[in-house]
Amino acid sequence: MSTSLNNQLIIFDTTLRDGEQSPGASMTKEEKVRIARQLEKLGVNVIEAGFAAASLGDFEAIQAVAKTIKHSTVCSLARAVENDIHRAGNAIKPAKSKRIHTFIATSKIHMENKLRMTESQVLERAVQAVKWALEFTDDVEFSAEDAVRSEINFLVEVFDAVIQAGAKTINVPDTVGYSIPHSWGERIGMLIQNVPNSGKVVWSTHCHNDLGMAVANSLAAVINGARQVECTINGLGERAGNASLEEIVMAVKTRRDIFKLETTINTEQIVPSSKLVSTITGYPVQPNKAIVGANAFAHESGIHQDGVLKHRETYEIMKAQDVGWGANKISLGKLSGRNAFKSRLKDLGIEIDSDEILNAAFDRFKNLADKKSEIFDEDIHALVSEEYVEVAIDRYKLNSLKASSESNKTPKASVVIFVDGKSYEATSEGGGQVDATFKSIESIVKSDAELLLYSVNNITTGTDAQGEVTVRLAKGGRVVNGQGSDTDIVIASAKAYINALNKLFSKLERAHPQV
Ligand code: KIV
Ligand code: ZN
Repeated sequence: MSTSLNNQLIIFDTTLRDGEQSPGASMTKEEKVRIARQLEKLGVNVIEAGFAAASLGDFEAIQAVAKTIKHSTVCSLARAVENDIHRAGNAIKPAKSKRIHTFIATSKIHMENKLRMTESQVLERAVQAVKWALEFTDDVEFSAEDAVRSEINFLVEVFDAVIQAGAKTINVPDTVGYSIPHSWGERIGMLIQNVPNSGKVVWSTHCHNDLGMAVANSLAAVINGARQVECTINGLGERAGNASLEEIVMAVKTRRDIFKLETTINTEQIVPSSKLVSTITGYPVQPNKAIVGANAFAHESGIHQDGVLKHRETYEIMKAQDVGWGANKISLGKLSGRNAFKSRLKDLGIEIDSDEILNAAFDRFKNLADKKSEIFDEDIHALVSEEYVEVAIDRYKLNSLKASSESNKTPKASVVIFVDGKSYEATSEGGGQVDATFKSIESIVKSDAELLLYSVNNITTGTDAQGEVTVRLAKGGRVVNGQGSDTDIVIASAKAYINALNKLFSKLERAHPQV
């Protein structure tokens, strides 16, 4: 396939792999499957579901995604190591369409200091890795890690060799977010021009956002011939994140006059995807974030409001509905029964195969409907997440909470929690009800963990909306995000803290692909 004649831009989503490398963003198998279903609904071409060799949990999650997804290609990352590639190949086996993405670093700084390998060893290993991967699938992608700081002649040599070995996609990553758009575009153009047989493969780019230019760099690569972009929902990812899918897709769509490219993305699924990823990972979306931020289509100034009311295009280049704003329909209410609940779950791509979890989720829904008249899709996602968390890891469990504050008095909180099934009670004072609640929990658990982040978000609008709380805890080099939601934010906070503690003390160990 000649890249220059092809007007399709392949969207390769790595939310479940590079996105998951954000501190504390690790996901359970069930959460990954739920996001993968939404990515398929969104219309992404490739879902990088994880790094199979990282842990047994990752392997099983990729396998579960591979069994579920029918329309997108399911991919696993693998270092250029035989065991990694075997793990990846076995994990993606059930997929209808499968890809292995193998990589090795090609910059001097990585080869000498991290890999301790010479150029010729790296070249030989890259070719070998592609050959190992071809034993599992003919859809093999090769990445030259830290391509941004690699010698261009060496890159040409490596890419030539892996194309000859059978790689179908060549990915050029800016691993450290060092590039600026014009030089990145130039590099991609130069590679496409100088690598023999470059027209036989798809050229891809993968940009990190350390200088805030991941999207701009990716688009510069596209202008210079890249026909696959690796990106994540909400720009989630290692350090400052990856290029954000929604910004890439909407730039290409809105400026079709420049890009002249099509994607398979159903843009109305962008906001629901963003909300789901935010709920599951505990990474809130900043209000002024392009496309998916709460203010992205809000006009504050009178002049702007007046202009938009008279003629929308005066200040808006996209329609809010086209990216899925307003799609958060009232889903269910107080009178909705079990069948309506089950069928809404099905529409949302949530398949619960355990009766125990389904019954408990339905009870939770009924409790919520007593407190809140309108239940939105986001509420349903949040309550299902909580149910899975409690069933999966329940060393600590919140039984009850009483918190009080009064003008000129110190706030107080009393909690009763179960630790390994045994009930403990504690009361503490604090700067506010949340602080007092966390102190009470700590006086029982004595985790000694450091609180890195506490954030509250409204899941939907209105004062009866559920508050969604994220608590990030760190201990002994491990970082986890806990989430909790409730119409009462003190209770949501307690749930989030306890969820974080459960994750912190679970035995889950994972390797990092770049180490
Ligand atoms: O940033 C990077 O280089 C990566 C590779 C594994 C593609 O994530
Ligand atoms: Zn990356």
